[in-house]
Amino acid sequence: MTNPFADRDVISTLDFTKEEIEYLLDVAVKMEDIAKYGSKILANKILGSIFLEPSTRTRLSFDAAMKHLGGQVIGFADWDKSSIKKGETLSDTFRVVENYADVLVIRSEWEGAAKYAAEILNIPVINAGSGAQEHPTQSFLDLMTIRQERGKLDGLTIGVCGDLMYGRTVHSLLPLLMNYDVKLVLISPSQLHIRKEDKVMLETRNVQFTEVESLESVLPSLDVLYMTRMQRERFRSEEEYLRMKGFYVLTKNVLKNGKPDLLIMHPLPRINEIDPDVDKLPQAVYFKQPKYGLLLRIALLALIFDAL
Ligand code: CP
Repeated sequence: MTNPFADRDVISTLDFTKEEIEYLLDVAVKMEDIAKYGSKILANKILGSIFLEPSTRTRLSFDAAMKHLGGQVIGFADWDKSSIKKGETLSDTFRVVENYADVLVIRSEWEGAAKYAAEILNIPVINAGSGAQEHPTQSFLDLMTIRQERGKLDGLTIGVCGDLMYGRTVHSLLPLLMNYDVKLVLISPSQLHIRKEDKVMLETRNVQFTEVESLESVLPSLDVLYMTRMQRERFRSEEEYLRMKGFYVLTKNVLKNGKPDLLIMHPLPRINEIDPDVDKLPQAVYFKQPKYGLLLRIALLALIFDAL
């Protein structure tokens, strides 16, 4: 396959075929040396980084990935010090930054922001999180984590637990998982079920899935448990969030009923849904996911510039 990522926008996981996703993951596992020793293959390239919502992993890993490739990074995470604060529109901001950068990475609370930027700009745009809608590069790295840690995806029973309505990593992960022969167990309070359109998508693709509220009742059947936090910033009120916070708390005691090789994942940040005692278990890979994320983003940037 020729590089399917060359000069391409990355807005939604729905835009990529299984073959294209596996191509990316195959390249990502080969990026260890670049992560360790660096490279100059993007020496003349600049990444524009526009983060209008808080981020630790996504922003810093794109920053690190570009620097490992020999490129440079400009942009802002404190948008209130940009001219947006003076009333400049996002559209104008994007058009201006296009003059300074060769690729644009955008995080925004507005669901269509990255998609809109991709439509109006002539440089590739990467969606680094768009409201409650999508976070494609997180989901690529989540898929990579399962594939690397379990050696396969087919045949696995995967539990996705927490705020399935507002969690954007869930919306991006489901389209990737439906490429495989997996059983999905969607675990959430009834108020935070996956959206209707996601359910229709899974049904249309004949994906086996069940929706349950009790984590304990399904834990023994799971090969992978993907925990997510309650998305406080997306709830309609603080009272509603406080009612949901603490609905799921994964402890070593709860995990006694799980398979010994259950893979425990979380896109992070974690709030209180995984007890810190769980961190020491060998099955807990949520602090390995950011390393996979670095490799994945190195691969993605190198492929977008067709530099490998
Ligand atoms: N997983 C994730 O997107 O983390 P950040 O919000 O810290 O980037």
